[in-house]
Amino acid sequence: MPAVRVDDARKVYGDPPEGVVAVDGVSFSVDEGEVFGLLGPNGAGKTSLIRILSTLTEATSGRAEVAGVDVGEDPRGVRERIGLVFQEPSLDNLLTGRENLELSAALYDVSRRQTRERIDELLDLMDLAGRGDDPVKQYSGGMKRRLEIARGLLHDPEVLFLDEPTLGLDPQTRERLWAYIRSLREEGTTVLMTTHYMDEADALCDRVAVIDQGQIQALDDPEALKRELGGTVVHLRALGTSEDELAQAPGVEDVQAEGEGTFVVQLAGEVAQLPAFLRTLDEVDHLEVTTPTLQDVFLSLTGRHLRQGEAEGDGWTEDYQRMKRAE
Ligand SMILES: Nc1ncnc2c1ncn2[C@@H]1O[C@H](COP(=O)(O)OP(=O)(O)OP(=O)(O)O)[C@@H](O)[C@H]1O
Ligand SMILES: [Mg+2]
Repeated sequence: MPAVRVDDARKVYGDPPEGVVAVDGVSFSVDEGEVFGLLGPNGAGKTSLIRILSTLTEATSGRAEVAGVDVGEDPRGVRERIGLVFQEPSLDNLLTGRENLELSAALYDVSRRQTRERIDELLDLMDLAGRGDDPVKQYSGGMKRRLEIARGLLHDPEVLFLDEPTLGLDPQTRERLWAYIRSLREEGTTVLMTTHYMDEADALCDRVAVIDQGQIQALDDPEALKRELGGTVVHLRALGTSEDELAQAPGVEDVQAEGEGTFVVQLAGEVAQLPAFLRTLDEVDHLEVTTPTLQDVFLSLTGRHLRQGEAEGDGWTEDYQRMKRAE
């Protein structure tokens, strides 16, 4: 039995013609013990899918099962079996970490004695043992996120939903949180997480569904997604050339302009193509040759230009530049 099964789910907010199609015929399943990622930009429909699966909203059509329970037929049964960490912070800042967990345990009917043990165990697991009695308002962003994950695990869920677990955290804190998420996998918890960070999906997920405009564009393990794209990716800065010119060069499959004179060029085949391509360029200020990343996979699947992302202010360009700097 898969831990999660989604069959042709659709979610439309509002009525036609103005209705927004947030989820547009999505099907996939997640195996028990798997860390599964939904990767996509802002507005792709990731949170809407999590809301359907966690019974916070009803799908307009289609079916979904979590831990073998149908979300439409037995929402209560689903809620008993899942943990949920929201994209938006939802802790009570005036309470201590421990009190936040106690409040949640009371809602889940966990017995008082069990609660104390479980809370100690979870504070320990998330490295908050020494800080449990401090008010949450004194926590850092990373500590708050860890406390939210601890709360999601209180009643030993079969499936844990993490909606953008590291949104807004600095790179070091993100990496530490990744280690906690990996430790969940070792405990055998099934995790369905969303992210719009390529490197995060790559680092954590056994399989990734690339989602854009409510539809799954590709679904596989990160390595396979990158392998399928194949080829060689060249990041270059050459002020005297244009997107059209580059597109005509030998071996070029795809060109994305990134900014003033900077381009990402995808070459077919292996690096053997590179010399012929380079001979067509006059002046190159900067050149970097890489194998495909999940970012390249996304670009190739959706054709979305990074500079469009920038114009829309959706954070992709910024994330991408941060990734580049980190490399
Ligand atoms: N309650 C709502 N009412 C109307 N439209 C909504 C509602 N919630 C989401 N939408 C729309 O549905 C689409 C998908 O939104 P959703 O929040 O699922 O995307 P997302 O992938 O989680 O994005 P983000 O990365 O920004 O969190 C968007 O166009 C959004 O504006
Ligand atoms: Mg979201």
